[in-house]
Order: sequence, then C-alpha cells, then structure tokens
Amino acid sequence: MADSADVAGMPRPRVFVSRIIPEEGLEAVRSVCDMDLWDGDLPPPRDELLRRVAGCDGVLTLLTDRVDDEFLDAAGPGLRVVSNYAVGFDNIDVGACARRGIPVGNTPGVLTDTTADLAFALLMAAGRRLPEGDRYVRAGSWRTWGPLLLLGPDVHGATIGIVGFGRIGQAMARRAAGFGMRILYHDVNRLPDAVTEPLGAVYTPLEELLAQSDFVSLHVSLTPETRHLIDAGTLASMKPSAVLVNTSRGPVVDQRALADALRSGTIFAAALDVTDPEPIAMDDPLVGLDNCLIVPHIASASRATRAKMAAMAAANLVAGVRGEPLPTEVPPPA
Ligand code: DGY
Repeated sequence: MADSADVAGMPRPRVFVSRIIPEEGLEAVRSVCDMDLWDGDLPPPRDELLRRVAGCDGVLTLLTDRVDDEFLDAAGPGLRVVSNYAVGFDNIDVGACARRGIPVGNTPGVLTDTTADLAFALLMAAGRRLPEGDRYVRAGSWRTWGPLLLLGPDVHGATIGIVGFGRIGQAMARRAAGFGMRILYHDVNRLPDAVTEPLGAVYTPLEELLAQSDFVSLHVSLTPETRHLIDAGTLASMKPSAVLVNTSRGPVVDQRALADALRSGTIFAAALDVTDPEPIAMDDPLVGLDNCLIVPHIASASRATRAKMAAMAAANLVAGVRGEPLPTEVPPPA
C-alpha cells in the first residue's frame, strides 16, 4: 500500500479496485490514492466486496460487481465516485448513485472498433461454421474434400440487420459495407440521414429487419425494454437460414427460446459473446448445440483496448475523488 499522506500532508483518498486491470490504470490510481486492490482471478464475493468498500472515497468496479443501495450503504457517506471498467453500466443502479450525488464513470469510445471486430468475427465464424470445422478435423473425421461438407451461407452480398445503431452498431455497418452487404438497422431513435447514408444503412422496423436479414447482430444496451428482445416470437420471424450474433448483453436474448430455435431449425446458427448468466451453466442446452458458438465475453479483449479502458477508468476515479467532473460520466437518469 502507498503512503497514506501526500507531500502536502493531506490524507490520500482511499479507493477500492475490484480486480487487477492493466498496469496503465493501476499506476495512475496508485500515484494519487491509497489503493486497496482485490487480486483474485474471480470477483470478490459479495460480503468481501461490501466489507472492502466501507469508508472508501472512490471505487473502481467491473461489470461483475453489482452496485446498488446495499453497496452504497456499505461504502458509506464518504463515497464520491463509482468508476466502471466497461462501457456498459447495467451492473450499476445509476439512479441510486444519482440520489446520493455520486457520479458514475464508464469507458465509451475506446472499445467500439475492437468490439465490432469480434462481432464480425463471430458472424463469419458461425456462418462459415469454423468451430464445427475445427472440431471435425481434431476428431479425425476429415477423410476427403466433400462437395457438401459444412456448407453455410455467403457473407459477402448478404443482408445484415443491425439492432441498436450506436457507436458499435455503426462500426459493424462499416465492416459489413466492406463485404458488400446490404445493411438494415433498427434503433429506438431513427438516426439522421447524414449519419446513415454514408454507411448505406437503411432504417427498418424491427419485425421487417428480422424477416429480411441473413445475419442479425445485436448492439443494444440492456434495459427493461430490451430484456428478451429476442424471444420465441422474434426468432420465429427470422429466416430459417439466419445467423444471430450477440455481443451486447446476455439477457437481451431468451436463451431457452434460442436453444429451441437452433434445435428445430427456426434459425440456422447463433454466436454469443455474452450469456445469461455469465458464465453460462454447463448444462445449458446451448452448450450442447453444434450450431451455437459461445465465447466468454471477450469482445473488448485486445491488449490495446483493455489498456485504454484502464486509463479511462482510472481518470474517472481520480477526477471523482478530487471532486472534479468525470472525463466520461454516465448521464444521470432524468
Ligand atoms: C463493456 O465494456 O460493457 C463490455 O461488455 C466489456 O468490455
């Protein structure tokens, strides 16, 4: 632990950091604060988390930590900032923070392209059946070139439906344009033509988008309105040849309905970076399905992006404990 007083003899702010993040962030926090760092590979158990945040001026949390009234009560009245190491903040009750005058920071922008890269990789891998092909080779099943072996849809020239057309949805559209895809988008807010026309993206009502798309990629935030946005009903309106990609949040998809749809051929395949819960239970029906690719929430997991996220989360934390405006603050609810 660093010295508890700075050069002017003022006590250094006390902060809790709930997991090891890239050194760029830890160093920036350590240079200003007395940092208590949870160094386990797994998140701190709830009772440990509540114990460690008691009396802190600031906390740096991950999407695996629930920040709610119980957490804020445990931290106590001295808490001046919650800095989340993620762009998403559905783990945080932002309203509860706002009622106590506590700003919440997140890490928007820096992970946009990295996340879209992974979403496009998932789209291609599920469509062209890469995990199945890899398993087939390793199982020793590859005996000859086969005219009908592991056929899938073309990606180039196909129609993609992008649901949620914020920063990451738009980055997905730029990748799709490179593959000559026809691009449909749906969002609660129809975007200005000046944004969508250069991307060649056409606003389409959700049901029509689902019915027309060969690939559907989800980029919405998790809210009460988007929970189970993809359920038995919406899956039924998709093409039997369609591929669903989810890099948003697990609960946006009703997993039981998705497993039924994949088993019965209602849709062709799915690729998930996020599940509900995380980690997915090993007895979840999706785990046993060959046409469902699942990776462990790694969309932002490039070395460069995770380092930038660490620097941003640290900058929010340090600004908050100093009582300064956060460089990237989550807007408090109206
Ligand atoms: C986020 O930032 O919200 C991602 O899900 C993890 O990087």
